[in-house]
Amino acid sequence: AVLRRRPAVLPAGSPLVQFRHCPGTTLEIRRMKEEVESLRHRCELLEQQQQTQRLIKFYASVKRTPIDIDQVVEKCRDPTYRQDVFCHRELPVILAHMIAMLDQLPGGLVAMKNVGKVRAMLSSAFLAVTECPVPQSEKQGAEFRKVLERVMGELEPVVQTMALAVLELRKLLTMHRQALNDDKATRIKLRSLHDVPDLQYSLDEFYLAFVQFKFLSLQLLQMAGSSSSENAKEPEKGKAEPEEVVGIVDTGIDLLEVVRSARHNAELVCTEHHGDCPDIDIELADADDGRAFVSHLSDHLNYILVELIKNSLRATVDTHMARNSLGMVDCSDMPPVKVRIVTNKSPDTATVIVSDQGGGIPREDMEKIMSYTYTSAPKSAHDGDEEPTLLAGYGYGLPMSRIHARIFGGDIMLHST
Ligand SMILES: Nc1ncnc2c1ncn2[C@@H]1O[C@H](COP(=O)(O)OP(=O)(O)OP(=O)(O)O)[C@@H](O)[C@H]1O
Ligand SMILES: [Mg+2]
Repeated sequence: AVLRRRPAVLPAGSPLVQFRHCPGTTLEIRRMKEEVESLRHRCELLEQQQQTQRLIKFYASVKRTPIDIDQVVEKCRDPTYRQDVFCHRELPVILAHMIAMLDQLPGGLVAMKNVGKVRAMLSSAFLAVTECPVPQSEKQGAEFRKVLERVMGELEPVVQTMALAVLELRKLLTMHRQALNDDKATRIKLRSLHDVPDLQYSLDEFYLAFVQFKFLSLQLLQMAGSSSSENAKEPEKGKAEPEEVVGIVDTGIDLLEVVRSARHNAELVCTEHHGDCPDIDIELADADDGRAFVSHLSDHLNYILVELIKNSLRATVDTHMARNSLGMVDCSDMPPVKVRIVTNKSPDTATVIVSDQGGGIPREDMEKIMSYTYTSAPKSAHDGDEEPTLLAGYGYGLPMSRIHARIFGGDIMLHST
């Protein structure tokens, strides 16, 4: 159009660049230049992404170091141990394994929008850690820990976002199933979330890796803020062993204290929900001196116990629901939830048995109980469309508790009689 308005009288063989004197053409060239620049930028980004993928692939091929709580404590007690260098090597390996696990999630879970979000968070964390120089000096160590702190904050929503991804898939499968069930002509039997092969295993492995990542990072950050010798405490009067906190590991956790604190937390939740709470009896079965100590993370133990006690309280209230004259839930006549600590006089292991008379678990549901999102809550959070802020009511209590128990070789077993 520009050329038509101002026909150019060009001597034969004039270069095209002569058009630049025409204001319209100058604009066109500038736009083209910008386009080329943006394409170049996109190519660079693509190249970077491919490079990151290659790096992730490499790190994912490196074997992960098994984590043993006693070994971690022993190493952290050694002042010459370079925990930061170990983390600099191990943490990207864990992140790369987690990304590889995401890419292989079964049953269509890999395609869920929220899995993409988690993948982006992990890739960005991976880059941040690998781009950090190996911490060989005090300054580099501090820089690495700063990066780690930021990364930990950015990865905070991982568990919740993965939970949303599982819900996304669950909704999709349910919608298809319902639509096709209504259609008598098709008669296709579609599977539900609980029938997806290997889903439970894949999610267990993913969360286990994530909890390990968090443990190593927090252990490093905590150790940097305190020396183990400063934390060693003299044994309290009447206590059989000294308490010593090494990083975030408490080598002398008094189980009775942890159970009492978990009882308090679970009672609060139940009372807030029902206005009342059944009794919770605690018994230490076989310790001579009335104390049982374990080496663990207090937060993990508290998490597991609160989840188990909460479940027992809910089962008890639901089964024995009775209301007083004012129509309020009255728990006074309900059978108590019992928490029994058994050490079998072993210095290394202890068992905590949480039992209730809340009607038990139907035999046909026993297999599903540990599945992510399985819940018998009458109005479960899955029904709502709004995004949850907590995992409560999503059927994550038991499977996540088992992950926290398994990270250091423990486990959770269910019995229903
Ligand atoms: N002590 C128990 N007695 C009877 N049923 C139980 C007991 N503990 C768990 N269950 C069953 O297992 C299901 C799954 O438990 P889980 O703790 O994983 O999820 P939730 O309690 O439903 O929700 P969340 O713990 O995420 O708030 C429960 O909904 C319940 O049906
Ligand atoms: Mg629960």
